[in-house]
Amino acid sequence: MGNPTHYFDTAGIAAAVAAGAHRAAIGGLWEEVGRLQLDFLVSRGLRPDQKFLDIGCGSLRAGVKLVRYLDAGNYYGTDINESLLMAGYDIEIRNEGLLDKLPRAQLVTDGEFDFSWCQAPFDVVLAQSVFTHLPLNHLRVCLERLQDAAAPGARFYVTIFEIADDHPTHRPCSHPGGITSYGARDPYHYRFVDMVHCCRGLPWRATRIGAWNHPRSQHMIEFVREP
Ligand SMILES: C[S@@+](CC[C@H](N)C(=O)[O-])C[C@H]1O[C@@H](n2cnc3c(N)ncnc32)[C@H](O)[C@@H]1O
Repeated sequence: MGNPTHYFDTAGIAAAVAAGAHRAAIGGLWEEVGRLQLDFLVSRGLRPDQKFLDIGCGSLRAGVKLVRYLDAGNYYGTDINESLLMAGYDIEIRNEGLLDKLPRAQLVTDGEFDFSWCQAPFDVVLAQSVFTHLPLNHLRVCLERLQDAAAPGARFYVTIFEIADDHPTHRPCSHPGGITSYGARDPYHYRFVDMVHCCRGLPWRATRIGAWNHPRSQHMIEFVREP
């Protein structure tokens, strides 16, 4: 799993999952980063009765904790890698005794931010360690397509490797926690103004939250869906 562009290599990911590495394939730190995501969302007011979408949910590192926390049927996840969704459901959700809280159809294989299957809008959405692996236009596409699947006032939390306004984009940036990010290859870094730019002409407003105790120093951005 050394190549950070590997998430597009769905056959390679499937082979790793078949070898039992579905936790390592999404970055390891299973308990720590799963708990971090749940605690963050609850601290921001996530309630069990709200409808929640986990974009790029992988093998359900946060998903297992969120499915337990949310009312039955309120967790939805998407990922470009079907193999990760299958392992998350068939191993992690099953082992936790949570199958009856998560309809399998609510784990959707998708790499293009197509939420047209959504029948009632989401209240809270998360993309943790997803756009760190993607060029900026993916975020713009996601915001465009998510606007119709997000309730007025919905909050969309996105993590990024953040650089300062005066840090040249082309220059690599070393972050506490050991990751070096880049302007034009994975893992990507962005400025907060890039987040604001992605909202132009769309009903989203970006706010910088910044550090949230992520072990690899990803920062958090909040997008609010304006009415
Ligand atoms: C580092 S893992 C994080 C997984 C999960 N969010 C977590 O924190 O446990 C990144 C995930 O994003 C998924 N991914 C990458 N590009 C994607 C895309 N365009 N659409 C949906 N998922 C994507 C990968 O397959 C992988 O599961």
